[in-house]
Amino acid sequence: MTRVFSGVKPTGHLTLGNYLGAMRQWAAVDQHQADALFCIVDLHGLTVEHDPARLRRLTRQAATLLLASGLDTELCTVFVQSHVDEHARLSWVMECVATDGEMRRMIQYREKSAREREHGGSVRLSLLTYPALMAADILAYAADEVPVGEDQTQHVELARDLAVRFNHRYGHTFVVPRATRPAVGSRVMNLQDPTAKMGKSDDTGPGIVYLLDEPDVARRKVMRAVTDSGTEVVHDRETRPGVTNLLEILAACTGGDPETLAASYSSYGALKRDTADAVVETLRPLQERHHALCADPGYVDSVLRDGAARARAMARPIVDAAYAAIGLLPAPEAEGAGQAVGTAAPMDLAR
Ligand code: TRP
Repeated sequence: MTRVFSGVKPTGHLTLGNYLGAMRQWAAVDQHQADALFCIVDLHGLTVEHDPARLRRLTRQAATLLLASGLDTELCTVFVQSHVDEHARLSWVMECVATDGEMRRMIQYREKSAREREHGGSVRLSLLTYPALMAADILAYAADEVPVGEDQTQHVELARDLAVRFNHRYGHTFVVPRATRPAVGSRVMNLQDPTAKMGKSDDTGPGIVYLLDEPDVARRKVMRAVTDSGTEVVHDRETRPGVTNLLEILAACTGGDPETLAASYSSYGALKRDTADAVVETLRPLQERHHALCADPGYVDSVLRDGAARARAMARPIVDAAYAAIGLLPAPEAEGAGQAVGTAAPMDLAR
């Protein structure tokens, strides 16, 4: 069975963009068709300035929202990255396979570090090396497919390159993964700036609908979305980015086709009203399930405990194999546990 791995970074509240572009597809398709792992990548949340208490809160909230969105632990594995040591263990090896030039070429690093420096801030070294950790996330599980947004495909490509290079140098160890993209709704744009993606951001952006926004807040954000000059409702990302974004959101929420929907509207106002309704109705069941899960923290804990145990069992042998292949001496097993200490022939160690 195809193995799928994806991650969500707990650096902000999850948005409608995360849901329509990724989470919904994970629940509706991936967990049924593949052996899927979904990871809250909290270590990645340390690459930019962060508040420890907030990171902890957002990590738990992301886990709860993943479950609320319909991930079923009978079908897939949900866990927190820092609960499984193998990510950090393999990340170092990835740093020893990647080059600094390769890391510096990453678009996301260039953009984020430039922005940081512009504001006089310093850039954490981990922001540069982050793709090595991301490669480790993927390769540790022998993932075949990695469903990600467009902005992450370069990182998945790098993970591919590192897998191929490692296998070539040290012997076949890793499955070479590929990035995949969901069919619809993969690009929900910011309602105030429809040329930028609706990412999680640290402010309470009026252009971002958060999954836990109250219905009236979500509705107001959609009603205040910027539209384009002109009055006809046309689906065209280039010339009508605002209206096109609304059509895409409406289509993603109702299962329609954005082009067809465009033809059925003669005013922006009606389109906004229907989109607002559709967004509120999409969020409602998710928020209800989230609410119920919050009342049962013991359950969420047990999901994360089991998820980490399952993930560890999958990753451990692969990371051990990578350590051995690259030349790290395997730790002798404890006395009495299988092979006793000191039984390896000296000649073996001298290789
Ligand atoms: N870098 C991804 C993001 O910013 C999150 C991520 C980390 C990830 N590790 C991953 C995604 C592994 C897919 C697979 O969104």
